[in-house]
Amino acid sequence: MEDKMNIEFPESYPMAGGDGAHSYAQNSKYQRGYVEAAKEMIMEAIVKKFDIKTLSTPLNSIFVADLGCSTGPNTFLAVQNIVDAIELKYQSEDYCTREIPEFQVFFNDHASNDFNTLFKSFPPKRNYLAAGVPGSFYGRLFPKATIHIFHSSNSLNWLSKVPNEITNKTSPAWNKGRIHYTNAKKEVVEAYATQYAMGMESFLSARGEELVVGGMMVLLIAAVPDVILSSDFTICTHLELLESCLTDMEKMGLVSEAKLDSINLPLYFPSLKELMAVFERNRRFSIESIQELSLQDKQVSPQTLTLTLRAGLEGVFEKHFGNDIMDEVFDRYSKKVASTPIYLNLGHENQKTLLLSVLLKCKPND
Ligand SMILES: C[S@@+](CC[C@H](N)C(=O)[O-])C[C@H]1O[C@@H](n2cnc3c(N)ncnc32)[C@H](O)[C@@H]1O
Repeated sequence: MEDKMNIEFPESYPMAGGDGAHSYAQNSKYQRGYVEAAKEMIMEAIVKKFDIKTLSTPLNSIFVADLGCSTGPNTFLAVQNIVDAIELKYQSEDYCTREIPEFQVFFNDHASNDFNTLFKSFPPKRNYLAAGVPGSFYGRLFPKATIHIFHSSNSLNWLSKVPNEITNKTSPAWNKGRIHYTNAKKEVVEAYATQYAMGMESFLSARGEELVVGGMMVLLIAAVPDVILSSDFTICTHLELLESCLTDMEKMGLVSEAKLDSINLPLYFPSLKELMAVFERNRRFSIESIQELSLQDKQVSPQTLTLTLRAGLEGVFEKHFGNDIMDEVFDRYSKKVASTPIYLNLGHENQKTLLLSVLLKCKPND
């Protein structure tokens, strides 16, 4: 069975678990802003495009899955938005004679995600049944043609793995002294881009099997402009700043050269053009809309920014460097962002990270 579905256990770097001071649960307000910004789009998409009458399966129950749910609480907000929108649709004129079906929501993340924290913090009053689904969304997670709506926020920037060639000392793509592809040599950038495109292809192919025809997929993906000027700031600029903290520490002998040479973040922020190309190559989905979302809170403190980044990246760093240097790395980052106010003003005209919402619909097989 596993062979047939090609289920793999790839590298995983879950967000900081638990609900303590450094946890993702306490430090994901930035990501929450993104989910909140998508609420209206989701409501409209479901009302206008989730056509219950044309789904390929009868609707006794509605199956929704959130991919890359982490430990909460943002996932609860995201799935509630979807469930509320469908209920609203049933209460509308066209559907008011039908009984509202039951909702089953699947919360997916890597097996190493802190599912206990997630399960313990389920909203006490919820109008859906819930189940956890461990595994990588780059492979199959659900039986064929069973899911009506997939959602994924802030998760599809994580690669299935670091591209092999960038850690190979004999390869032209060896990423010596760097932790990411930002402003790296072209072979490194290409290796990351290829890994991303391959991952997205697997992701779309698995979802194409699992969605019912007429089912929908809402993806919130952080992206960058097709052309980035040297005056632009994006999420990648933060990773460069973080890298500079590690380089400083290496110069002071706090981190070894070999350790710095061998760490690479499994994160990728595609351009709009790259994303469109990925979606257009996959023939199972029609692109219903791609919109840029805007956050409500545009000003952020150095402390919040640091805790947000730490909750997301500590897992990768800790696995590689051990726990001892974590405070030092992120203290340095905090001081650096505090001294450059543009990092803290997300509404600044040079801030160019694109928060995209992509709506795809599953077509019948050709
Ligand atoms: C930044 S968190 C986003 C959490 C939540 N969706 C939100 O918007 O706050 C990214 C999540 O994606 C998960 N993730 C990354 N790659 C994954 C994969 N291949 N399969 C399943 N989950 C993955 C991570 O473990 C992490 O929990």
